[in-house]
Amino acid sequence: MSLTRDGSGGLLLGGVPLARLASELGTPAYVYDLDAIAGEARALEAGFEKQPHLVCYAVKANTAGPVVRALAAEGCGADVVSGPELAVALACGVPPERIVYSGVAKRDDELDRAVGCGERGIGAVQIESLEEIARVEARARNAGRRVRVSVRVNPSVDLEQATHKHIATGHDEAKFGVPLDDADDAVQVVGASPHLELVGMGVHAGSQFVANEPYLNSARVLFGLVKRLRGAGKLPSLAFVDTGGGFGVDYGGGLSARPADFVRAARAEQRAHGLGDLAIYVEPGRSLVAAHGVLLARVIQSKVSSAARWLMIDAGMNDLLRPALYQARHRIVPMSPEGEEGERVAWRVVGPVCESSDDFGEHLLPRLPPESVAILDAGAYGYTMASQYNGRQLPVEAFLRGGKVVGRTERASADAWAQARASVQG
Ligand code: LLP
Repeated sequence: MSLTRDGSGGLLLGGVPLARLASELGTPAYVYDLDAIAGEARALEAGFEKQPHLVCYAVKANTAGPVVRALAAEGCGADVVSGPELAVALACGVPPERIVYSGVAKRDDELDRAVGCGERGIGAVQIESLEEIARVEARARNAGRRVRVSVRVNPSVDLEQATHKHIATGHDEAKFGVPLDDADDAVQVVGASPHLELVGMGVHAGSQFVANEPYLNSARVLFGLVKRLRGAGKLPSLAFVDTGGGFGVDYGGGLSARPADFVRAARAEQRAHGLGDLAIYVEPGRSLVAAHGVLLARVIQSKVSSAARWLMIDAGMNDLLRPALYQARHRIVPMSPEGEEGERVAWRVVGPVCESSDDFGEHLLPRLPPESVAILDAGAYGYTMASQYNGRQLPVEAFLRGGKVVGRTERASADAWAQARASVQG
């Protein structure tokens, strides 16, 4: 984590005092450390050694231009799940051939954008069902192009204990991926099409794995399948295997594998299956960005009832949805040194939104509440999942590099929003 404290106890991100940022930007505000994000990509690189590979950054975790450009500058490609995400990746300089496009229901206009960009379209459209093949083929025929695709299979692994059920994707009940039973047919149908070229085979088991076993179980299913099909001569143009994203981060509960460890372990399995000649692709989102972003909030007031000691802050579930949606826990710490002194008590930190689930959980904070707090590890799936619920405007974002603010967004006008909603005619 790129958080430190200065001599007097003030919290710094990337060397910049957060209290100063909070007053310059107003709150709620997301702040990201671009140097640390680039460092995260470099640390992951070490896991590949000399193996041909591509890190496709899962843009859904954080779509901000400075973040995507910083990762593109480190050589990352992108994993996108919509036409607009594809447009962001391209506009941020990710070369089309380094982009893969996942998603169970890609619209024709989105496919056209993927097929039509660059000289040959993107690196791979990831096929997620047998039914999708004809649709991708039709868009390829229409564009007069031979489109590169990969088949993403659902590895059908047991993820019961591995992660939260809402972010598990590689099990039998999930809508994602070609069912294993259909994998042979999918490979055959793609292989028979003059408009499609089968360059990859992939899986994505889920997100926030804190140990590498579930990830490896899913990779083994992929490698076993690829070994069998390749042995039968069914994958003549295969160039890569894609083991997906899902490397967990430490939200405070511990971590037994770092992203580079996942990669080393997956590569060992790949070699053991005799597939070491293929490039390996991974699709990390969270692990590249989560720890290097914080959400700054001000304390509005407290309220002490028989149920709890409530601390009400000006950031809510519309700014950071993860606690409400997945019962996720993000550490919350005082931003300023004053708050570091004195006795600590359990505060139930909640936002202003009119929902009981607008609740960041219980946190040990000074009895005399701090003026402002930082919600940690908010760089992934924070801003990208934010909404305007309750007429609240999206939080602002600021980007740090070399100990300086190198970019920021402006807060939208709440009055303009109110006027726009009220002036809808009908
Ligand atoms: N590849 C595919 C096909 C995915 O569906 C995802 C995430 C990733 C890669 C990146 O996974 P990561 O490395 O970030 O774990 N909103 C949730 C997470 C949803 C993940 C969806 N898919 C959260 O806040 O925990």
